[in-house]
Formats: sequence, structure tokens, C-alpha cells
Amino acid sequence: MSDTSFDQKPQKQSGPPILSCYDDLAASAAYGWSMLERGVKDRKSAFHTPSVATLTAEGAPTIRTVVLRGCDTQNKTVRFHTDTRSGKIAELRDNPHAAMHFYDASAKIQLRLAVRLEALSGPAHQAAYEAAWHATRPMSRECYQVTQSPGSVIDDPYAVAFDAKATDDGADYFVPVAAHILRMEWLYLAARGHRRALFDFENDTQNWLVP
Ligand SMILES: Cc1cc2nc3c(=O)[nH]c(=O)nc-3n(C[C@H](O)[C@H](O)[C@H](O)COP(=O)(O)O)c2cc1C
Repeated sequence: MSDTSFDQKPQKQSGPPILSCYDDLAASAAYGWSMLERGVKDRKSAFHTPSVATLTAEGAPTIRTVVLRGCDTQNKTVRFHTDTRSGKIAELRDNPHAAMHFYDASAKIQLRLAVRLEALSGPAHQAAYEAAWHATRPMSRECYQVTQSPGSVIDDPYAVAFDAKATDDGADYFVPVAAHILRMEWLYLAARGHRRALFDFENDTQNWLVP
């Protein structure tokens, strides 16, 4: 059985070194934020590639991996980038409520975020769009230069056309997405007893939960 087994009962004896935020609600939230910040900068961090879940038009959940591109602790948002033609963009227009999931197996920490997604496009978001686009590497830009919509059915996997000119280098279809964090749920697995907490930023509350 894995040492991260969820059904472990609290034990008195100590296991691996425990984080100093173990019994401290505010410090646990701060640690969660620091992991998100690191997830942006450190490509090797498990938090670099979270999952984002949305609802389809039929009301079915759908989930995918994205790269974490930004974290603004002041405004309580994280950011990822995508294609304007992707399914998730259509879905967030219908229903901006979504969930994000992060798990760092080495730290044994899971974060679940309840978020409101916002596509940063149009005149109101010009500055944010420009900043995100300028920070994008040529290799990432290529993805947005595809002329068919992502997810389109094709007969031949080689029949995918990229056209930098026709797509303005990819900028035509690139869109940063802000995830406004409404709630953050912290789960820290530890041999001496797991710690679970809910930080509700809409109601400004923080509580321990039964793990
Ligand atoms: C490691 C990894 C990172 C990914 N990063 C992104 C990303 O940052 N943005 C994105 O739109 N898709 C990303 N994808 C692809 C998505 O998971 C997904 O397949 C694609 O966006 C289509 O999703 P949709 O049709 O639900 O919108 C990534 C996939 C993997 C495996």
C-alpha cells in the first residue's frame, strides 16, 4: 500500500518531516498560494500542469490539462492560455463556473479550486492580452497557427495546416484565460493525520474540514 494511502488513521509517531503550516490555517493558505506561484515559474513543479474542468452544453463534465501561466495572489487569479476555437472557450461562455485540480505527489498536497473563468479578449483586456502574447515563445505560438479548429475531425493526421501569415503568427486565435478563484480547498496528506481546509474568498471565511 502506498504511504499516501488515504485511509490511514491519524498516528502519534512522526513520519516524514512535516510542514510548519500543518496546524495553521492561514499558513496553509499561504503555502497553497506559494505552490501556485512556483507552478508558474517551475516547469518541473507538479502544479505547472493543472486540470481544468468545465461543463459541456449537455451538462456533462469535461476535463483537460493546461499549463499554468500566471498567478496573481492579490487579485486571487491564476491564468492559462488557450485557442479561441477550443471547446473550453465555448463552454466557459455558456457557464464560466469551473474547477481546477492540482496534486503534488512529492509534497502530498492537493488543491482544488472553484473558479470563474474569464477569457481575456476584447478592448477591456487589451493590456493583459498583449502582455501574455508577448511572453509567449515561438514554439507555443505555433499551436495557434493551425488553420482548422482544434478538435475538428480529419481523415489524415498529417492533414493539419499551419499558416503563420493567415493567423497573424497565431495571435488571431490565442487567448489568455483568467481563473478567478472563489474557493480553495487544501488537502495535506500526513501520516500523523491529514489536514483539510476550505478558504472561501467570496465569503472571506476559512475553516478546517474533516479530511
Ligand atoms: C501537459 C499538457 C499541457 C497542456 N497545456 C495546454 C494549455 O496550456 N492550453 C490548452 O488549451 N491546451 C493544453 N493542453 C491540451 C488540452 O489538455 C486539451 O487537449 C486541449 O486544449 C483541447 O481541450 P478542449 O477541447 O476541452 O478545449 C495540454 C495538454 C497537456 C497534456
